[in-house]
Amino acid sequence: MKRNVLILAAGKSKRMKSKTGKFLHPVLGKPIIRYVVEMSELLDSAKTVVIVNNESQPVRDALADKAVAYAVQEPQLGTGHAVMCGIDQLEGGSTLILLGDAPCIRQSTLVDLFEDHEKNQADLTVLSVNHSNPYNYGRILRRGEEVIGIREHRDCSPEELLIPEINSGVFLVNTDRLKQYLPKLSNDNAQQEYYITDLLELMSQDGLRVRAHVIDDETEVIGINNRAQLWDVTRVMQQRINQHWMVEGVTMLQPESIFIDADVSLSPDVTLLPGTHLRGTTVVAEDAVIGPNAIVTNCQIGEGSLVESSTIRDSIIGCHTTVGPYAYMRPGSVVGDHVKVGDFVETKNVTIGHNTKISHLSYIGDGSVGENVNIGCGTIFVNYDGQKKHRTTIEDNAFIGCNSNLVAPVTVGKGAYVGAGTTVTRDVPADALAVGRVRQSNKEGWAKGKNKAAKE
Ligand code: UD1
Ligand code: CA
Repeated sequence: MKRNVLILAAGKSKRMKSKTGKFLHPVLGKPIIRYVVEMSELLDSAKTVVIVNNESQPVRDALADKAVAYAVQEPQLGTGHAVMCGIDQLEGGSTLILLGDAPCIRQSTLVDLFEDHEKNQADLTVLSVNHSNPYNYGRILRRGEEVIGIREHRDCSPEELLIPEINSGVFLVNTDRLKQYLPKLSNDNAQQEYYITDLLELMSQDGLRVRAHVIDDETEVIGINNRAQLWDVTRVMQQRINQHWMVEGVTMLQPESIFIDADVSLSPDVTLLPGTHLRGTTVVAEDAVIGPNAIVTNCQIGEGSLVESSTIRDSIIGCHTTVGPYAYMRPGSVVGDHVKVGDFVETKNVTIGHNTKISHLSYIGDGSVGENVNIGCGTIFVNYDGQKKHRTTIEDNAFIGCNSNLVAPVTVGKGAYVGAGTTVTRDVPADALAVGRVRQSNKEGWAKGKNKAAKE
């Protein structure tokens, strides 16, 4: 049967106390609204309409790559009113109503919901759960087994408040029935809003088939109204993602301290150590070890590489390469195999060839470094003249002595040596030695008697 989806996302998110609407707050790198839209994609919906308010541009931008239509609800007169605003764009089949602030519902749950609804030829099926803390949710009212309505928390009698079965906010309704019953909603309730939940009572009174599809896992229905619930959802997603990757063969130590964004991809035999954050579109190949305490954003990490206590972003790391501890790799660092980027090394916009070692305390920005290069401790690529950035080139097999400045634009040729402490301002030919430092002179006996502490 034809499937339509309506996503309610027009609320003003007051309880978030944020200048950013709640649908745009990220959960593990992805705006909340994208999780919900992706549910509709997985269901192959014929049409998905997102209900937004009149400040919707940021939401539309966040969904720019998604095939969805929009309807504007202004002012916001309740969830029922939100549905009224979008229903004209939908025709036939059934309509799944999702809340834009509830991103944890599993695809398998929605598949089951459709099956249950269709098998029972229901007019309306609500997704419900028996909740350990039903506070603030709408309660499912039953007569015997039969579902006869939903009562919002604020409108509940003391007895109704004891009902554990709650409304997830997800409904599957026959589209024609929905069109028929929406005009019957009234705003006679504690908030003077048109509640979508009132459909159940209206339809059940008329003898239509109203059902609840009850699920076990209450983590699926968490709605994000405030920052505490934002964390609740983040934790649920974190557990799901970590569980997924562990089942796929990733070793994790202290997984509760490891945060992996939704779009990260990992191979079997990756090891993640405590305090690791894998963000954006990061891809990690097998036998790589990341952490402890690493922040890796939009990077590719090759097979068998190690990234320890470092921050790296928008970079590509080859195989069997080690990064850190305490390296900072900024965008555009492209590193080969068997490379060492050691402690307190900063890189940016630079390619580094295979087998090159930059073991400690260096700034390697804007340039290219060949293969088998040794860059000594304290080497600086002097890339900025106050106005423009310039490039440094170091060719294969070169050796850069400690504490050298390479003033760009400059090239050190193949196999050349730069003596420790040299400031290189002119190109160094292949196989040459560049030394540029004041010749040492020793003044014999000069210090004698200077050091009072050493006096007899
Ligand atoms: C709603 C349900 C409640 C359910 C809970 C599950 C109603 C009346 N209540 O309560 O039974 O247990 O979700 O999380 O439906 N929205 C609009 N336009 C509006 C009002 C709301 O688009 O005029 C959107 C909101 O942006 C939000 C969603 O609808 O995404 C739910 O609204 P919200 O105010 O969060 O409802 P709850 O109080 O959580
Ligand atoms: Ca809500």
